[in-house]
Amino acid sequence: MASDDYRRLLDATIRHLESLQSQGVGFVPVKAETLSALSRSARAAAPQAAVRAAPAPSAAIRTSAAPARPSPAVAVPVVTRGPAVQRPKLEPAARKAAFEELRLRVLACTRCPNLVASRTQVVFGVGDPESPLIFIGEAPGADEDLRGEPFVGMAGQLLTKIIVAMGLSRETVYIANILKCRPDTPGQTAGNRKPTPQEMATCIPYLEEQIDLIQPRAMVALGATAIEGLFGKTDAGVTRLRGSWLDFRGIPVMVTYHPAYLLRNQALSVKRLVWEDMMAVMDRLGMAISEKQRGFFLKAP
Ligand code: URA
Repeated sequence: MASDDYRRLLDATIRHLESLQSQGVGFVPVKAETLSALSRSARAAAPQAAVRAAPAPSAAIRTSAAPARPSPAVAVPVVTRGPAVQRPKLEPAARKAAFEELRLRVLACTRCPNLVASRTQVVFGVGDPESPLIFIGEAPGADEDLRGEPFVGMAGQLLTKIIVAMGLSRETVYIANILKCRPDTPGQTAGNRKPTPQEMATCIPYLEEQIDLIQPRAMVALGATAIEGLFGKTDAGVTRLRGSWLDFRGIPVMVTYHPAYLLRNQALSVKRLVWEDMMAVMDRLGMAISEKQRGFFLKAP
């Protein structure tokens, strides 16, 4: 392709990405092969000076790939919630105090009158504020609302098993949700509902404060609502994004299925996909992965 054509195509691509961004699209999934083909085209299409003069797509696009294995698709965040947050690392005692101050503020929150009226209690989060790893779910369900702790129902028990299979525990990781109150379901006696965009926007600053205080080295987004809460709405579903590393203000975020989905879909192959995502997280954190762990969910017991 001639260099002018290539630059026109690049300009059009950037305009399209900017237009998606202005419509609130948080990120665009791009296959790794597509990215490398694009950079090959750039090199082949134009003399070096012309390529340098062209607008650089990397100014708008940031990506990080899972080191454990090649991802089938690289999810490319066009927008994150801002640049990497540079905060001084607090000493454990100061962090504990700041966390407690935040916890008390969140427990007393009255920002969503409908949820204040329906909730039994606020579900702040559980685990070690010093942990390098945070798991992020959607919102408390009925069990969590009663107990005041995230992920204690059926899906939570499965999440706990996954954490233990990684050689960790609920006490050594941190677990939180996008929404701190159970979404109300007026007129319904059972079931849950997804948080509304407004509820998510209202509550997300609390999760951001938790993340800023913990300063984890990695996070796991469990399911579509966790992705939407962290990055904004996207037309790419979890199936497209899982197994990819996204970037939340400088923190790598592994996308995987929500444990409630695993309860509905018991296929060994789906369990294996989630397990591969968890091995990528372990790898990222520098954790040893045993041969036994590498073989989990390859065949039925
Ligand atoms: N599902 C979630 O996303 N969070 C919980 O705390 C429980 C179930």
